[in-house]
Amino acid sequence: MEWIATCPHETIGTLADELGKLGITETKTLYRGIMFECDLETAYRAHLVLHTASRLQLVVSIFDVKDLNSFKTGLNNIIWPQFLRSHYPYSVFPANYDEELKSLDNETIMKSVVESIQQSPFEKNPPAYKPDAKDPIGLVLFFRDGKCVLGIDTAGRALHKRGWRTNGHPAVLKETLASSILMLSGYTGQEVLLDPMCGSGTIVIEAAYMALNKAPLIHRGKDDFALEHIVGFDRPLWRKISDQLRAKKKAALDFPIYASDIQQKFVDVARESALKARVEKYINFASAPFQEVVPPSETGLVIMNLPYGERIGEGTLNTLYKEVGIALKEKFSNWRVSLLVPTTAPIHLLDFKPSQTFLLKNGALDVKLLVR
Ligand SMILES: C[S@@+](CC[C@H](N)C(=O)[O-])C[C@H]1O[C@@H](n2cnc3c(N)ncnc32)[C@H](O)[C@@H]1O
Repeated sequence: MEWIATCPHETIGTLADELGKLGITETKTLYRGIMFECDLETAYRAHLVLHTASRLQLVVSIFDVKDLNSFKTGLNNIIWPQFLRSHYPYSVFPANYDEELKSLDNETIMKSVVESIQQSPFEKNPPAYKPDAKDPIGLVLFFRDGKCVLGIDTAGRALHKRGWRTNGHPAVLKETLASSILMLSGYTGQEVLLDPMCGSGTIVIEAAYMALNKAPLIHRGKDDFALEHIVGFDRPLWRKISDQLRAKKKAALDFPIYASDIQQKFVDVARESALKARVEKYINFASAPFQEVVPPSETGLVIMNLPYGERIGEGTLNTLYKEVGIALKEKFSNWRVSLLVPTTAPIHLLDFKPSQTFLLKNGALDVKLLVR
């Protein structure tokens, strides 16, 4: 079976590393995704353990498309009843990046797919096209270089939606990005970790999962993955994999995790999310300005996603960046440091020399990860 794991293109390296740890080494890099072959067991495990994948797709078909006719021929070669269940609604998500196929608009793509499914030999009725249904199966059609890659989105809800987030912070990182920056920073759970600008706690919660070897999607409810609604879903195998992963979780951290923020209300949000994520007892929360934080050990990794400035104004931002630079020099010179900052921030005021810099995107914002 062929699968595609998607992610922002900037973090494709961390996703490839994660797939490697699952034993998936023969991969093909796509734009914003990685295609690979694996058995069902590995695919099920991937749905539960990948920290940095946005979505997963089961590849239904890859075929040449040069015009509407060849597109319809490709669709008609698909045996839809091998994938879709009669009673479960579906939706269609075209992504046409093929300059030569611009005449193939979304409406035409959708209508062609619906027609092909309706003409397929389902035992009962063919499934209904219902984009407004609750969690329809997503059929994703990606067009590029004269090819259509047609996949079923088996994640359903995007994989960064772990199910533990509490609202109440205006500038949260996606869980997948927080994990990528931890991995790019070399965090493995084998050192003390401190996020002194923890906001809603995304980084430390993801870190606790990594350090405890706890699968990030393990607490999703039954029927939450679209995977569970397609033909051939093997419930006993899914349960076996989930149980195996639960059993692999460590009982305690090897090294402590600390989180603080200048605003008590954000620390409260972070703690509540950690509670829902069932890792609250592993994280030491406090409220304090970073300038006053006493390093909790001789050495470790201090990681922070600095404020961006829209809300606090340029003058305050300049002062903050200077003070962060000073505190890092005076108190954290023995620590490894990882800073996520927008490219437009006054980075020079940190007076910080990274040994590695990664260019990433936080939503639409260009950001840099500076690691020392
Ligand atoms: C961009 S947000 C971090 C968001 C976080 N990574 C998340 O996913 O929710 C920056 C955080 O830094 C905090 N902050 C600003 N100045 C601070 C300071 N001097 N000391 C500690 N925290 C500070 C803000 O309250 C805010 O929560």
